[in-house]
Amino acid sequence: MPHAGETVDGIPRPQRFADVKGWFWPVDQLLFDWFLRRQSDREHRGDLLELGAYLGKSAIFTGNYLRPGERFTVCDLWDSPAVDDPNSAEMDKAYATLTRRAFETNYLAFHDRLPTMVQGPTSVITSHVDAGSCRFVHVDASHLYEHVRGDIEATRELLAPEGIAAFDDFRSEHCPGVAAAVWAAVATSGLKPIVVTSTKLYGTWGDPAPAGEELLSWLRTRQDLWHAVDQVAGAPLIRIRGTGAKAPAAPVSRHAPPRGHASRAGERARAARRIAKDLVPPVLVRAVRAARHRRTS
Ligand SMILES: C[S@@+](CC[C@H](N)C(=O)[O-])C[C@H]1O[C@@H](n2cnc3c(N)ncnc32)[C@H](O)[C@@H]1O
Repeated sequence: MPHAGETVDGIPRPQRFADVKGWFWPVDQLLFDWFLRRQSDREHRGDLLELGAYLGKSAIFTGNYLRPGERFTVCDLWDSPAVDDPNSAEMDKAYATLTRRAFETNYLAFHDRLPTMVQGPTSVITSHVDAGSCRFVHVDASHLYEHVRGDIEATRELLAPEGIAAFDDFRSEHCPGVAAAVWAAVATSGLKPIVVTSTKLYGTWGDPAPAGEELLSWLRTRQDLWHAVDQVAGAPLIRIRGTGAKAPAAPVSRHAPPRGHASRAGERARAARRIAKDLVPPVLVRAVRAARHRRTS
């Protein structure tokens, strides 16, 4: 069994959640936590799905909310060829070193078992997940308009009536196709946005009002999250700015150093020095002190 800090097949094994590379910021960790906890509190049952998992940062976090009897599916190309030329160009630029094994190593550092992994384009996901079975879907795969449009249609089909979808990069300058596809869904396919952060839009095809109202009450208790409410397409939309957001407790790596490890090591070193001093003959101690004194004077 390898020790903490070692590599598995050349892949460093994370000791802390912060060691896992990805794009999943504290404000979105707070919102995932809020939506997923709310579902648990209300006993909304259902599966979890992530389209676009990369090295597992958001998947590791989401996996913490899986309850017995539920399934967590992640879909990514990892090392498979991309769907088309624009998708290949996007993959080469952003995810050149991506491997499925790196995802597995990272995920298993935090969880006992892997999620159901679908390695392939997200266009196949409806053959792997049952219609209406999901309570939470995170869409974070291709940034190309045609692909995202397909991901949104799949999400609509796979979500349960009260299910929540989170769409990444819905407004970033580097991927206008995502913005076009997400807002088109709001305008034409009944996606109702509840809240936006600087990187993600959270919405539902069900009734957005109960979650929106509860979220507002919670936000009023948070000093670290600025928020406002706009009217968009005739409904309230919460905006959150979370530059100072205090992330919820991070998933704990099974390979993290035990708490107090550093101070216990320091204490052991100090004790060793005390014992050595007691064992060394006084004449030698005096000689060492004299040599030190000569060096510093
Ligand atoms: C932005 S990363 C995901 C980040 C991850 N959710 C996180 O928060 O760390 C996008 C991922 O989508 C995958 N991807 C891109 N196009 C895809 C496609 N057409 N089908 C499946 N996965 C795709 C890439 O392999 C990459 O791992």
